[in-house]
Amino acid sequence: MVRIVRATQAEIDEAVTALRDGDLVAFPTETVYGLGANAQNPTAVQKIFEVKGRPTTHPVIVHIDSPKYLHRWVREVPETAQLLAERFWPGPLTLIMPKNPNVHDIVTGGQDTIAVRVPAHPMAQQLLTAFGGGIAAPSANRYGRLSPTRAEHVRDELGDAVRVVLDGGESQVGLESTIVACDVSGVRLLRPGAVTLAQLRQVVGDVEVGAPGAAPRVPGSTPTHYAPSTPMTIVPADEIDTRAEDASADGQRIAVLAQRLPLKTYPSVTWINAGRRADAYAHDLYANLRTLDKAGCVQILVQEVPADEKWDAIRDRLLRGAAASEVEEGADSAIAGSIGAMP
Ligand code: TXA
Ligand code: MG
Repeated sequence: MVRIVRATQAEIDEAVTALRDGDLVAFPTETVYGLGANAQNPTAVQKIFEVKGRPTTHPVIVHIDSPKYLHRWVREVPETAQLLAERFWPGPLTLIMPKNPNVHDIVTGGQDTIAVRVPAHPMAQQLLTAFGGGIAAPSANRYGRLSPTRAEHVRDELGDAVRVVLDGGESQVGLESTIVACDVSGVRLLRPGAVTLAQLRQVVGDVEVGAPGAAPRVPGSTPTHYAPSTPMTIVPADEIDTRAEDASADGQRIAVLAQRLPLKTYPSVTWINAGRRADAYAHDLYANLRTLDKAGCVQILVQEVPADEKWDAIRDRLLRGAAASEVEEGADSAIAGSIGAMP
């Protein structure tokens, strides 16, 4: 398959015109596709919330092409944030810092902090440089659903609501960015991603994990995040074949996301072997879940992933997806447990 990573000048011009007109543009990043609007136009940013069906209290990330524009968005860059930006930007890291007073409330959900990221994808860089401003963008999916990692995911889900969809091929990482809050009280990991806790600690030393007790809003904290429509359950590796076999015997259609091949063929089971490498697993995770979601199954069984730190971000998204299927009190503790269990 040909990988298209740069847009033509005509495509970039069209996208920039749409942004200047206050319309939405979906664009590729190395993590997932973003649904972008001019971050300085509150009416345009409002459209993001309408199209996604997302509550306006959930703030969005502002994307910029270079850290040299940080001061336009951030009141004061904490030293820890400076160090992290130097090490990981451009890349899959979002930093939450005190916001510049000029930033519109719709971007920050009325909070006094702002989330900023410099994405590495060449097409995102092309777009940001040509636009010359910040692009406010959450993931380009409907609220609570799986993030898109291909342009066709965006077109399938959002269709005509987005004026331009730039196609930059498959997102390389496949999971949303690591989110880190930096302020005078220290550094806090709020959402695990491709930049790991160990990597953060190498740069800034001490890093707290999870939301502080009294936090107003935690990224992706609602259990309905990152979920397929089909109920999803996490199953220990040694039980996955038995569960598939039992379901098959009952004639139930079951989907399986495993890390190996099945021990035998089960007629009513759709089985994906996503392999044992964390980076490849992450790259394909949302596309695999979308495929399994469309397979007409009553349930998706996901083989439990290894306890290793490389799998933290994957485990976090799987637990949230499974918790969304439960709709009970256990859901929140499953998430807290997943974060608390991190080294
Ligand atoms: O990889 C990514 O981060 C992708 C790409 C497009 O950059 N974006 C993304 O955005 O995942 P979104 O909106 O789906 O997730 C960002 C999370 C949200 O849960 C939001 O509530 C949180 O970041 N967030 C944004 N600003 C915040 C702030 N000032 N304080 C706390 N959380 C914040
Ligand atoms: Mg999202």
